[in-house]
Parts: sequence; structure tokens; C-alpha cells
Amino acid sequence: MSTPSSVPSLSPLTPAAPSKLRAFSGVQPTGKLHLGNYLGAIKPWVQHQHARENVFCVVDLHALTIPEVVNPAQLRANCRGVVAAFLASGIDPAHSNIFIQSHIREHAELQWLLNCVTPLGWLDRMTQFKSKAEGRETVGAGLLNYPVLQAADILLYDTDVVPVGDDQKQHIELARDIAFRFNHLFGETLKAPALSVPLAGARVMGLDDPTVKMSKSIAEQRPNHAVGLDQDPAKARKVIMKAVTDTGCEYAPGLASPGVVNLMGILSAVTGESVDSIAERYAGRGYGYLKAEVADAVVAELTPVQAEYARLMNDHGYLDSILNTSTARVREIAEGVMRRVRGAIGVG
Ligand code: TRP
Repeated sequence: MSTPSSVPSLSPLTPAAPSKLRAFSGVQPTGKLHLGNYLGAIKPWVQHQHARENVFCVVDLHALTIPEVVNPAQLRANCRGVVAAFLASGIDPAHSNIFIQSHIREHAELQWLLNCVTPLGWLDRMTQFKSKAEGRETVGAGLLNYPVLQAADILLYDTDVVPVGDDQKQHIELARDIAFRFNHLFGETLKAPALSVPLAGARVMGLDDPTVKMSKSIAEQRPNHAVGLDQDPAKARKVIMKAVTDTGCEYAPGLASPGVVNLMGILSAVTGESVDSIAERYAGRGYGYLKAEVADAVVAELTPVQAEYARLMNDHGYLDSILNTSTARVREIAEGVMRRVRGAIGVG
């Protein structure tokens, strides 16, 4: 694939368009993206991207918090993979920014300054820290400070809103508390984001266990847990046809099991048809038909995304040029905020 001779010309994002809120989101470049990431986060982002000013960050520094599993070459490749997946899914680089966290050094710098104002007790209380630390022989200080880095990500861009899933709510509240504490100690400097904005996407559960959210780490161990964003159609279809439903074999309104609700939710998120309308169509019909329809819809949705992903991953020049342009735009914002922060705290 040849490199296009010109990248779409991009206007600078600072100063922010006054009417649009700035939204920030981070995605870890660990594991493979799956249908849950796509329907729960990427697709709603794509759908709402023009309502906001968007900053998408591939958080490679966060991926270092469990150093035992870091593979440097893989880490770089995964970062590019996430960028390509977002673009292939319809993120418009002329409007939305997408960049890699470590390419803006200010994330690490702000994180240190915020560490110095964050009481240890606040970090101890983070439920995600507790669950990630559990059972590990060594727990790095980075794992404890993970939410401080996340706060730095958010605060570095004067972010208005951080649309996140429920599991990240506590981290957003912490980011606000850190901003308030910094401002209390050093004067009004940091902008605290809004309390919490739901992601507006579907909550996709595991296909092999509809009681847990579809997860990258479980998917690594259990092939029937998730449909990968890059999974070939035959395999994707097979995984969906094997999805756990319940011991019955047809749908009875009002008695749907979590597996059936999950399949209907997936279909609804892909096609836009309401779950009620899907449920009505399936009253008294066998689960096999529902699964087949879900499989067809998912394959039809993912096929063009996969084709564009493959094209982007082979077009290094194009991906680099998009990254360079985006990074330059967000760097301007980050540098402005850091000047304010350094001034307030007396360094730099
Ligand atoms: N912790 C987030 C997750 O695991 C990733 C993340 C890092 C993030 N920095 C962020 C999300 C800033 C929102 C805003 O999903």
C-alpha cells in the first residue's frame, strides 16, 4: 500500500472550539481488542465524535505497571494496533486526536507533581489497585500510582468530560480530588473534569460466561469468551454459535437468561434495533436463530473494519503522519497546561 501524498489538512484544536466540550479517553495497549471494546467504547465514540472535541490516548505508560508481562517490541506494535483499530472503526483524524501517551513527556512530569500532592490513603482505597495487586508476589509502586498517572492524563488537557465505564468511576473521582487538592495548595491551576459521564455503549458480557464483562485477559485464556476485533468471520461465527444461553432452547418473554439478554444487547448495539423489538421477534423462537442473526450482524459489522485495519497496519507512512499531526495538536494543549502547573508549584 502506498503512502498517500498528502494527509488531510488539519486545523489546530487550540484554542478549543468554545461550544464543544473536550472529552478525553485512554485505552491500554494490552491484549487484543474485542467486540466488548468495540460496542462498549469505540463505536459510541465514533458515533458521538462530532459533538465533542476528542482526545484519545493510547496509554502505553499504564501498560508498564505490571512489568513482568511487558514485551517491548510487542508494546510498540500494540500501540500502533490500537491506533489503527480506532481509525479503522471510523474515528475521523481530521476532527479527533489520537496519540500515544509516552510521546508527550508531560504525562510523566505531571504525574510526578501530582504524586507529591496525593495522600497515600487515597491510593490504598482504589478497588482496582486492590484487585490487581491481589496474589502478586511483588507489587510495583507504579501499580499503586496508576490512578495518579490517569489523573495526569485527564488534567493535562483541561478535560471537561471523561466518558468511561463503571469500572473507571473511582479513578475519575480521584482525578477530581487531586485537582481540588492541588488547587487548594497552589492556587486555582487545574481544571477538574465533570464527575462522571457514562460511556453510552453496550455492556457486553462474556459469551462463555454472561455473568462477567467481556475481558481481554479472560479472552487470552478462553477461546470462546470473546470475539476478537481481528477474528476471521468463520471463527467469530463459531464462537457466537457456542454462546452460553440457558438450559431451555427457545426464548420466553420475561424469562430471559443473562446469556440471551447479552446476545440481544449485542444485536441491538450493532444494528440499532431496540432490545424490546428484538425480544418481540424472538418470542417462542429457538436460540439458534438468534445466534445466527447475531453472528451475521457481527460479521457484517467487523468485515469492513478488519479490511481497513489491515490496510492501515501496512501503510506505515500514513499511520505515522496521522499520529504526528495529532500529537503536535495535543502537545500544544499539554505544554500550555504544564507551563501553568510549573508556574504554580515553582519548578521549571
Ligand atoms: N484506566 C483506564 C482503563 O483501564 C485507561 C486510562 C488511562 C484512562 N488513562 C485514562 C481512561 C484517562 C480514561 C481517562 O480503562
